[in-house]
Amino acid sequence: EQINKGKYEHYMQKEIHEQPESLTTTMRGRLIRGGSSKAKSVLLGGLKDNLKTIRRSRRIVFIGCGTSYNAALAARPILEELSGIPVSMEIASDLLDRQAPIYREDTAVFVSQSGETADTLLALQYALENGALCVGITNTVGSAIARHTHCGVHINAGCEIGVASTKAYTSQIAVMAMMALVIGDDTISSQARRNAIIDGLVDLPNKVREVLKLDQEMKDLAKLLIAEQSLLVFGRGYNYATALEGALKVKEVALMHSEGILAGEMKHGPLALVDENLPIVVIATRDGCFSKQQSVIQQLHARKGRLIVMCSKGDASSVCPSESCRVIEVPQVEDCLQPVINVIPLQLLAYHLTVLRGHNVDQPRNLAKSVTTQ
Ligand code: G6P
Repeated sequence: EQINKGKYEHYMQKEIHEQPESLTTTMRGRLIRGGSSKAKSVLLGGLKDNLKTIRRSRRIVFIGCGTSYNAALAARPILEELSGIPVSMEIASDLLDRQAPIYREDTAVFVSQSGETADTLLALQYALENGALCVGITNTVGSAIARHTHCGVHINAGCEIGVASTKAYTSQIAVMAMMALVIGDDTISSQARRNAIIDGLVDLPNKVREVLKLDQEMKDLAKLLIAEQSLLVFGRGYNYATALEGALKVKEVALMHSEGILAGEMKHGPLALVDENLPIVVIATRDGCFSKQQSVIQQLHARKGRLIVMCSKGDASSVCPSESCRVIEVPQVEDCLQPVINVIPLQLLAYHLTVLRGHNVDQPRNLAKSVTTQ
């Protein structure tokens, strides 16, 4: 496996740009396309023997830290939709702090790029002791989480060197979307929806290639934001996770304060921060939440918010309330896969901000790729 930087200056930059290939590897051999009228399906060999138990579980609990937690959050809505099983979210350290109830009827899914994160591993031991079915989703064959879970899926994104996770994030979402498809595979009424998602997965690397063309535009935006103290990112629905993950990237590598905000909570606090100086990214690509996000944009604009709107291609004029509003137009994909596309301009923005601000891209101060102590 190639672990040099090739034509790139930094590993993070390389890993952002290789996402069409890493996603292709993640999906290789796992998408089964029937003829035009036939049902399409997904094959995840690592889950095969436990599918019945997973389908019968009382709830599915996602457990992870950092970017891996955000990836699970991005996949939660489609898993809920296709499985009909309640899905709850746990940050590993918080689950341990609370010694939260975990039952034999639960399926606990441990998401970790390295497969070695101490908190996630301890949460796994805790879930095993409580009798839950434990599923691992990791990028590292032979890692502790891969070894100690009952079953699982490798994301096969290839080695990730940059401390800030990028390609592992998008591959984790793809794997969890495939997991949702597999679990929901026995429901005839959602066959058309599942077929559309499978088609979307097949075309995803092409769409990622397209969104990566925004590189220069994101560099220009980074130049504008270079001296800012703070950046807010508003998202909801499928893209609440994108808001959290975009803000995490900016925070951890560009060393700029950034916060991902659930747009539905805007009126319960964040609105007080809005003025003509603070830059705000609003994610408003087309999905079931689009009209609600349009209204959020109007309300932020009415308070003179400095807006940067991410929208689907062709929507710029309908989402932008004024000339001063900046737009990031991204290709549209199936709603549940949109987080894979939408995070990429934010990864690029964080990367360019870091370079322009003169910080260490691949090894941000005080952080480690794999946190193996509590
Ligand atoms: C560290 C890394 C993050 C990562 C998190 C979880 O904080 O710097 O990039 O998201 O750990 O790591 P994991 O290997 O469990 O996904």
